[in-house]
Amino acid sequence: MTTHRSLALAALAGLSLLAGLAADPAKPGFTLYYTHDAMGYLESCGCAGPVIGLADMVNELMARRKAVTGPTLTLDGGNLSKDQSRGRIVWDALSRGGYDVVAFGPSDVAWQHEYWPMVFEKKLPVLVGPWFQHGNNLANGIAVPRWTKKLGDLTVGVTSSGPRAEVVDKEVKATQAVLAELRKTCDVVILVSYHDIGVERALVDTGLLGDADLVIGCRGCALLENPEQTRNTWFLPEAPQGRRFGQLKLSVSPADAALAQTGRKYKLALAYESITPKQSAKADDPIVADTRKQQQREARIQVAKGYDSDLDVMAKYGYVPSDRCATCHREQYVAWGRSRHAQAFRTLLDKKALRDECLPCHAYEIKATGKFLTPTKQERGVECIACHGNGMVHLYIPRKDTIDRGDRTLCVGCHTQVNDPNWDAEKRWAAIAH
Ligand code: HEC
Ligand code: HEC
Ligand code: HEC
Ligand code: HEC
Repeated sequence: MTTHRSLALAALAGLSLLAGLAADPAKPGFTLYYTHDAMGYLESCGCAGPVIGLADMVNELMARRKAVTGPTLTLDGGNLSKDQSRGRIVWDALSRGGYDVVAFGPSDVAWQHEYWPMVFEKKLPVLVGPWFQHGNNLANGIAVPRWTKKLGDLTVGVTSSGPRAEVVDKEVKATQAVLAELRKTCDVVILVSYHDIGVERALVDTGLLGDADLVIGCRGCALLENPEQTRNTWFLPEAPQGRRFGQLKLSVSPADAALAQTGRKYKLALAYESITPKQSAKADDPIVADTRKQQQREARIQVAKGYDSDLDVMAKYGYVPSDRCATCHREQYVAWGRSRHAQAFRTLLDKKALRDECLPCHAYEIKATGKFLTPTKQERGVECIACHGNGMVHLYIPRKDTIDRGDRTLCVGCHTQVNDPNWDAEKRWAAIAH
């Protein structure tokens, strides 16, 4: 298990100054657990550790919540899935995991005709932007533009800018109004946002959204390692649901005069930790069972679409298997054959993880052709064309200008922070140089 832990020292430093003078020291508030952007991920990559499923995540979350002292709040920022079949499983997992509230995100709009009937049973409140109208959902309380809860001595309010990712003046104003309202009655105000983080920080800076204390979910929050502050608003690092979640222990101390001017009663101090769950779920866990069923369903659909191992048919898609390049580039082919790239497809077979979400990086032919062409051939994976582009023309007109030379900046498209946290460009290139 990897975790990284950090304290938001800036806020604490302010407190320690106070400690000598003030009679009222920091006191614990509550613990926030948050996730967002499940995007239909039922099992996470397993590249940098064991494969983690939704069930593992929910188990870990529940265990943490039980172990922590004081009240807790568990929030999902939405984007459950791109479609209903996986979205339903994510929704069930969140309901079982004892979430308090879930926001409605841009990717959920794509299947909203199935989404709203699914949430009709009101297992969990669904947050939408105050401006968002969809049928009678607001009127009958299936969707809520704001949500509040009493946690110990503190009242927490949550609202959302969703499901829109673009910034629209009218909508920002509506969000601003709800934040201002929450500010009056709540001690901690949370905003779920899908805007670009740079834009959102500017909106906070100009005062428009300055009433929020915490913002989660912005596009680009993956770049934050720790909570970062703009004025009195903290932007929280990403917590892609199913892979990692955020744990934020909040404590509060009385606001100084300047802070009180902004309508805040308390100054917040945050202790943040990003948690990667352990593999723990058993096969009889209902979420695991649902996940397996869905994977089998998808595999059946794939088979029905048809596998095709005929090279000429593959050629139609522009896919050239690496052995075709070997005729003329023997040395490079041998070097490649020794690298892990040639084994990336076998890795999935070994792990029994022949799943949609693994294919773009581990079985490049899928990315090239959009079709699963050679399910049994094992020496496949990150092939020559993954880095050198479509090789069809080059095969027949073998010259320098008919193929991409190879660009080392492409590596991080697959060697992402999540899948390869120890990425080192020089060392890694040395390991596959050819
Ligand atoms: C029929 C022989 C042949 C085949 C097959 C072939 N190549 Fe080439 N390749 C060449 C020749 C010839 C050159 C040009 C060498 C030169 O001018 O120095 C070349 C050049 C290259 C270069 C260097 C490009 C540059 O800008 O310097 C790359 C990369 C390359 N090939 C990749 C591939 C890949 C990937 C495949 C399989 C999809 C492939 N080749 C298949 C003959 C071939
Ligand atoms: C299409 C996705 C993709 C691209 C692009 C890619 N890689 Fe990889 N790479 C992988 C995968 C997947 C693995 C793991 C293969 C396995 O072990 O199953 C891997 C493994 C490796 C390894 C072996 C790591 C180890 O722990 O043994 C090295 C080294 C490496 N890649 C270097 C590079 C470099 C350098 C580039 C850019 C020039 C690059 N990769 C581009 C997907 C990619
Ligand atoms: C975004 C690209 C990407 C996706 C998607 C991805 N992987 Fe990986 N995977 C990598 C890279 C890159 C490495 C090499 C990491 C390293 O060297 O530390 C890797 C390594 C691995 C390894 C370790 C191989 C070894 O023996 O060292 C396993 C196992 C693995 N991936 C499984 C999976 C599974 C299962 C999935 C789908 C659920 C998946 N991966 C999805 C990029 C990806
Ligand atoms: C992970 C990405 C990756 C894969 C996979 C890969 N290459 Fe490359 N290749 C590169 C990069 C990057 C360069 C350019 C290196 C540099 O910066 O000089 C390169 C360079 C080359 C060159 C030019 C070498 C020279 O010195 O002029 C050839 C030829 C070549 N590759 C062929 C292949 C063949 C054939 C395969 C498959 C058997 C393959 N490559 C697989 C990334 C890759």
